[in-house]
Parts: sequence; C-alpha cells; structure tokens
Amino acid sequence: MTTRRIETEPIDGQKPGTSGLRKRTSVFMRPGYLENFVQSIFNAIGGVHGKTLVLGGDGRHFCREAALTILRVAAGNRAERILVGRGGLLSTPAASHLIRKRVADGGIILSASHNPGGPEGDFGVKFNIANGGPAPEGVTAAIYGQTRIIGEYFIADDPGFDLDGEAGGTADLEGMTVEIVDPVADYRRLMQELFDFDAIRALFRTGFTMRFDGMHAITGPYAKAILEDDLGAPAGTVVNAVPLPDFGGGHPDPNPVWARDLMDLMMSDDAPDFGAASDGDGDRNMIVGRGAYVTPSDSLAVLAANATVAPAYAGGLKGVARSMPTSRAIDAVARDLGIDVYATPTGWKFFGNLLDAGRVTICGEESAGTGSDHVREKDGLWAVLLWLNILAERRRPVANILRAHWADFGRHYYSRHDYEAVDAEAAASLISDLRGRLPDLPGTSVNGMGIVAAEDFAYDDPVDKTTTTGQGIEIRLDGNARMIFRLSGTGTEGATLRVYLELFEPETDRQAQETQAALAPLAETASVLCGLTERLGRTSPDVMT
Ligand code: G1P
Ligand code: ZN
Repeated sequence: MTTRRIETEPIDGQKPGTSGLRKRTSVFMRPGYLENFVQSIFNAIGGVHGKTLVLGGDGRHFCREAALTILRVAAGNRAERILVGRGGLLSTPAASHLIRKRVADGGIILSASHNPGGPEGDFGVKFNIANGGPAPEGVTAAIYGQTRIIGEYFIADDPGFDLDGEAGGTADLEGMTVEIVDPVADYRRLMQELFDFDAIRALFRTGFTMRFDGMHAITGPYAKAILEDDLGAPAGTVVNAVPLPDFGGGHPDPNPVWARDLMDLMMSDDAPDFGAASDGDGDRNMIVGRGAYVTPSDSLAVLAANATVAPAYAGGLKGVARSMPTSRAIDAVARDLGIDVYATPTGWKFFGNLLDAGRVTICGEESAGTGSDHVREKDGLWAVLLWLNILAERRRPVANILRAHWADFGRHYYSRHDYEAVDAEAAASLISDLRGRLPDLPGTSVNGMGIVAAEDFAYDDPVDKTTTTGQGIEIRLDGNARMIFRLSGTGTEGATLRVYLELFEPETDRQAQETQAALAPLAETASVLCGLTERLGRTSPDVMT
C-alpha cells in the first residue's frame, strides 16, 4: 500500500468563527472536497505526524464513507493512532469524552448537528482540540486560511478497512494504528460516575414513566443502554432509537416544533411522567414534563439550583455560564448560591476556557444545549440524567418543580423568534442600521416601552484575555425586559434573523400566563424597533422556540 500526493485547488471552506464546516451532503461528496478540507485542518494544526486523533459521527448519510476517507488522509499524513467509533459512530459528547480520556491530540466529528441529513440534506466536519472542545477562533481562522491556499493533500490507498470490527481491535494503515472503540461504553461509564444510578433505578421501580425520543439520530443506542439497560426503564421507553442515515426523513432538532410527536404525547391525557429528546449528534436536549414544557433557559436554571443531588456536583458549583441571549433565570440562581455567572457569546466554544480554568461547573444556551465540566461539549443525555436524578430525589412532578422554582426565583418568560431564509443583505443592513442607532436609543421609548440601555455585545474572555465583538444587539427595557437581535452563524440558506425576547415576572400570581401571550407586546416592540416587516417582508416568525 502507498500514500499518494494529490494536487488540489483551494475550496470555499469553514468561515472563521464558525464551529466546523457545514455544507450540503452533495458538496462534501464531490471528489476531493472532504480530503481537501481535512488536509486543511491538519495543515492548520501543524500536521498530525505522531499524533492521536478521535474520529466518529452521527451516522448521517455519507458518515461511513467519510470516516474511511479521513482514516486514509490521516494515514497519508502519518498520524500515530486513530480511535474510531465502531461503524463510524460517536455522539458529540462521547467524542469529547474520548478525546479527554485517551489524552488524544484532538478529534474529528462528522455531523451537521440538528440539520436534516441524507443526500439532499446537510453534512458537516468539525475539529475539536485536545481539551475535548470545539476549536477556538484562532484555530478555525487558521483552518479557513489553509482552505484558501491549499495545493495538495496526502492520502493512503484504500485499505478496505472494516469499520464494524470488534471494539478494542486494531489494524495497521500505512504505519498508523486504527483502533475501533465501542461508541457507547466509555460515555456510559462516565454517566454512572456522575449520577446516582441507584436513586434513579428506585424511581423507575415506583412505576415512574418516561419517553425518550432518539429522533432516529445518534443518541438512540446511548439512551437504550443507559435508560433501559442500566436504569431499568421499561423496554420501549426509548423510541426512534435506531440511527438512520436520513434520520427517518425528520429534522433531528429537539424542540416543540421538530419533536412534535413527543410534545403532543406529553400534553395529552396519556402523557408519561417525563419526556426528553436529543438532536442529530446528541449534544442538545429537550425536557418536558406531563403537561409542562421546560424551556432550555429554565432547565439550565433548575439544573443549577438542584445539581447537588447528583454525586458529581455534591460539593457545589464553582460558577455557571450562559450565552448572552440565554435568559437570566440562571443569574437569579447564581445570586442565590453566591457564585459567579458569566455571559458569553453564542456558541459552546466560549465555555471551554471557563471550564478549563475551573471557573464554572455548569453552562448552557437557550438553544437547548446544557452541559458541565465532565466534557467540553454540550451533552443532551447528561441533561436528561441530571433531571432524572433530581426527580428521583424530589419525587414531585416536573410541573411542580418548575412552579416552585419560579416562586423562589421569579419567572423569566422567554422565547426566540426565528426569521429563516431571509435576504442576507437586508438582514445585514437591518443589524448594521440598528447598531448605528444604539447611542441614541437609551431614554427613548418604542411602542410605549422605555429603553434603558442598548449595546452591541462584546465579550472579554477573562481567561485568555481575547475580545470578541459584534455578538448580538441587546436592548434593555423598562420592567426588566430585554430583547436581542442576532444573525445566525449556522444557517445554510440566505440569512436567519434571531430575535430573543425576555420578560421577568417576580409575582407568583402572574407566572401562569402562556409564554407567547406574555411576550406579545415585547415581540411587537422588537418588530417596530428594527422595521422588521418593511425590511424583511415578514410579519411573523418561521419558528418560535
Ligand atoms: C445555533 C444556536 C447556538 C448553538 C449553535 C450550535 O447557532 O443558536 O446557541 O451554539 O447553533 O449548535 P446560531 O445559528 O444561532 O449561530
Ligand atoms: Zn447538535
């Protein structure tokens, strides 16, 4: 077998500041495209000669072929060892754990997260660094730079490698060792260490019922092993458990819109006690009790407030972090616990430094990502298990826990309104015009609401001292309300404008309103303030989460 040097041309690769490259699957399937991007990653990190990498993905269309190609490019670049999930599978949090546990130099995750998969869907490649987390800005910028100047890549001949070999087995590929790992085993052991499995088993023995929707994505096998086999949840608790290359034609994003079946069940008379779902690559989560949807922001706050029930967090939390647009429900908890709370730009990579420095234990985003210092990615099943641990301890319905939480800390009504596939130029000028008006807004009033402060969010990383600017426009209003305008960095068609709305309600007797109704005046104000209808031609959002 030999390694070949192939001449190639620069590609339109990962933009700096985005975590990973996402494109239509058909783009990644173009001859040489994937090879080109992977070589660019290797070039950007000073080569992989002698290094150990982790490799796996969410099982979407092209995942298996891509894994085999990446093994060949890694061998062509003389990597020392690749740990690959059997079948080419690894959830994002499991990959993060494996990088850390095996002290690898980094890892490549094949996924476009919650974006639909299949030949007509999306594919993605993401590089994680040695701490197990997404590559920081400096590394993504270097990768982008390499994609613009690349002229060659190195690839070993096709070895006809069997990705379904036995876990623990190794093979030699041009001097590089390929080790097949069980995608579930190490992650499962980690969860057993973090949580009180005895208490959760006891909860299920009382007849506690649950449905976990794997959405035909990667978490099915993990959830079956942990919830059904380890914790004794009845067989059938985990549905849509088999990962499919096109996610069964679904959109594996765990929110009330895309996990409609689960939502309908949980709001019906036949609802089990607890419902949960995870996304394509297993890092997001949705939590819903019987008749009670828990917003990700509220979930984060409840988890932080009750975390000490789990053995891993019994000693208390060092601090917490949220992305800036995530609701301030967790801030109220942090104040009560006397710990620091950090507001970071959107995107998990900003939590990495805080976690590494031991400043925070739990962090999360409004987009259904929650996690802790056990890995360096958000972790869908982790959030579900911490909820279960809390329910096992408190023995009260989810709705009850939520109401008690609001009574203690006040309720932060919260919703994100997305305007998808809008004209990119119109969206960019909407934001830049708003930015230009910021100095004049405080003290004025819009739609009868007084503006208290207006700023273009910038983040000074307290650990590495870097500054990141232009991370969303935050407008604070009278009555402890705020709204944030931000353009998505992950959309693949036109632009997506996200409008985040938050209203604090301290009075218990006013905490039972329906979320969108409570936020309607604020939504109207947001629309008037930025001239949404005139500029984007939209009168209502495409998705409200
Ligand atoms: C979205 C979410 C963000 C999350 C990211 C990756 O990014 O809003 O919280 O970290 O996906 O899962 P956005 O499209 O808003 O840039
Ligand atoms: Zn994801």
